[in-house]
This record gives sequence, C-alpha cells and structure tokens, in this order.
Amino acid sequence: MTAFSYRTGALHAEAVPMEALAEAVGTPFYCYAATAIETAYTDFAGALSGLPATVCYALKANGNLAVVRTLARLGAGADVVSGGELQIALAAGVPTEKIVFAGVGKTAAEMAAGLDAGILQFNVESLPELELLSQVAQDKGLRAPVALRINPDVDARTHKNISTGKAENKFGIDLDQVPAVIERAAALPGLSVEGLAVHIGSQLTETAPYRAAFTRLIDLYRSLRTAGLPLRRLDFGGGLGITYRDETPPDMAAYANLVRELTTGLEADLVFEPGRRLVGNAGILVTRVLYVKDGAERRFVIVDAGMNDLIRPPLYDAWHEIVPVREPAANVDWAPVDVVGPVCESTDTFARQRSLPPLASGDLVAFRSTGAYSAVMASSYNCRPPAPEVLVRGSEFAVVRPRPDVAEIIARDTLPMWLEPADGAGEPIGEPIVVAGKAALGARGRSAR
Ligand code: LLP
Repeated sequence: MTAFSYRTGALHAEAVPMEALAEAVGTPFYCYAATAIETAYTDFAGALSGLPATVCYALKANGNLAVVRTLARLGAGADVVSGGELQIALAAGVPTEKIVFAGVGKTAAEMAAGLDAGILQFNVESLPELELLSQVAQDKGLRAPVALRINPDVDARTHKNISTGKAENKFGIDLDQVPAVIERAAALPGLSVEGLAVHIGSQLTETAPYRAAFTRLIDLYRSLRTAGLPLRRLDFGGGLGITYRDETPPDMAAYANLVRELTTGLEADLVFEPGRRLVGNAGILVTRVLYVKDGAERRFVIVDAGMNDLIRPPLYDAWHEIVPVREPAANVDWAPVDVVGPVCESTDTFARQRSLPPLASGDLVAFRSTGAYSAVMASSYNCRPPAPEVLVRGSEFAVVRPRPDVAEIIARDTLPMWLEPADGAGEPIGEPIVVAGKAALGARGRSAR
C-alpha cells in the first residue's frame, strides 16, 4: 500500500496531503490513487501474459466513471451486472467486445441494451433467463452470445455473505442440470452458446477453491466439446482477495500459474472478472473525529463518516485498518476504542476495541482498503449526503464525484396531489390519475398499475 504513506508526518495519497484535501473538499471523502489502480491492473494483466485472456474489470467493485476510465485506458474490459453498469462501461470507453454481462436477474430491457451494444457475452444463470434472452434476441433479429454460468458446488472459504459457488447459493446452474439446459439452448433461436463461466465468491485467500472450481469447469468444457458443442471461451470470474489486515491472498504468479497448468492444451479464450483486486487497496476513506466520548464501559471515537458511507463492517464484519492522518509519535500510548459513526443504529460501528493512538475532536483518520465495495455501496440513509470521491495522480487531484447537496436529495421526492406543500417545499407535481374509479397518486404522471 505504498500509494498511501506518511511523508513528513502526514498521510499522503501519492504526493497529495490528506489534510489539504480535507480542507478542499470537506470530510468525509473517498480518495483513490490512480497509480495504485494502474499498478494493480498491470500486475494482473501482466501475470496472464501469453494466455488468450481478456481482463474484464468488475464494475460493481467501484463504478466511478473516472476509475473505470483509468482501467479502460489500460485496455481493461468490463464485467457489468446491470443496464446502469453497462452504460458506465460504455461511457468510460470500454470496447463493447470486451464487455461481459453477468448477474442472476437480467431484465428484458437490460438484455436488449447488451444486444444493441454488441457485447462479448451474456453469462446466463438459469433456464428461464436463457428463454427470455432467446426471445429478446430473436425479436431483434440478433444472436446472443452466451456463456453458461455453472454452480460448481465449491466452498470458497470466505465470508458466507460473499460466497457464491455452493449449491445453496442462488448463483449459476447446477452441474447436473447443464446437459438439459444445453439441449434446450440448442432448440432455442437467437442464441449461440460459446462458453462456460464460474465465480465462486469474493475475497478468496487461497488457490485451492479455485483449483476445485476451475477443474470442474474445464472437465465440463472438455466433455461438451467432445460431444460436439462448439465452445470456445471460459470465464473464470473474479474473487482474488486483498490484504485488509493479515491475510496473505495468492500472488498473481500463483494464480496465473494455476490457470496455465489447468488450461494447457485447451482451446479456449479466457475471461477474468477481477474487481476488488484492482481497486480495493487503491482507496481510503478520510473522516474527521467529531467527539471522543467516554462511556461507562468503553471509549467511543465518533467520526463524521457513517455506515451510509461505508457499510462493509456492519454487513460483513469487515476489518478496515484505521490510521490517523497525522503520524502518531513513537512514544504515545495506544488504547482500545470503538470507532463509530453518527447514524442512529448500533450497527454504525466501524471497529470495536481497536487499539489506536490518542485522538481528539478535529483529528483526521483514514479507513484503508476502501477502494472496493465502499463508495459504490453508499446510501443517503439519515439524509446524509454520501461522501464525495477524489482521484489523485501524482501531485494532482480531481473531485470525480462531488458530494450531493441535501437539496438534491430532497428534490428526488415529490408530493402527492392531496398534500399541502409545506412552506418552501414547492407545489405538488403531477396530474391526478384515476385508478379503479378513484383519483389516486400521480406524481409526474406515472400511472399506478
Ligand atoms: N464476477 C462476478 C460474477 C461477481 O459476482 C463478482 C463479485 C465479481 C466478478 C468480482 O469479484 P471480486 O474480484 O471483486 O471479488 N460487497 C462485497 C463483495 C461482493 C462481491 C459480489 N460479486 C464486499 O464488500 O466484500
């Protein structure tokens, strides 16, 4: 994590001091280091060099346009899971032939958007999805390129909330159902089954689950090809972990060697969908201490970031390193504190009994490893505008997503016809709409169905 380090006693992102950024944009804010993103990508892609590989960045990890563009400029493709993410990928300049569309619940409109764009493949996860995709493609007179996502029933040995490859998970097609799905696909118009895909979970710290899952996928690929199915692509998903605390996830060479070993002699183009590995350690969340409160049993450090900004600790028991922006002197006493946010929930707790140097109101602290699944999972709960995002490169910075005004958040709501506008809240919007003989809601003329 060299992108974020102390220089002359103050935390910097590359060459930009966090104290100056806090003055410029206010707290809390996310800060991403472009060089760290670039290095992570070149490490990933470089390790796979010589293989027929396309690296499709999983936008769900961090969909900021500037982040996606940073990766696209290096040649990354995109793994998208919604029509919205597809639009981000296209806006960031990701070539359409490097976009894969994953996800267990694609709508007809999303399928149509992917077909119109001419993406590389749809990762299909069920028979009814396959049938709808066939219909949508046929209506357009197009053929949808398909990879069937397999559920290999492999334990990824990661947190249960981010495990996806066990039979009990909603993802993928069970291995024993694959032949029937393939038979059905052959009978359906508008489809071209070109590959198989797998993704067993996120934040994997060992290669063994990958070996198990990839082996099952490759065995299936071989047998289907022997049976005459013209498959030509394997999608190995994402999931490679990062170091948050003391994990030692596989290095890129180990991962790439595994892939090389298993795919030797196989005629298959390969797709990878890394998310966290490319951006996770390239971001921090900087927040200011509001109060230090001594409770009956413990000391609470109350910061101005909340679970609406960073939900990973409450949602996955995630551990994020917390560091003061001013480098602590070597001789101060560290003591356990609970670091909490201002949201009215007990789960708005970032760390329990974490040993930290003395902190006082006004101090800045940073949560490390928040480049992935952090800003992108933010909300405006408690009507808190989500933290803005800043991208740093060398000594330059740019606000790549500003903090929304509260007025913008309120303006998303409209009043129904029967409510008097409150002072200053404006007029009710929309025409009355008649539903089942009664006048009912009609904000912006949307009809109730
Ligand atoms: N491909 C598929 C089909 C996925 O479902 C995911 C992540 C990825 C690729 C990228 O996985 P990665 O390389 O980032 O591990 N919000 C959770 C993580 C959810 C991951 C969902 N799927 C967290 O904060 O840990």
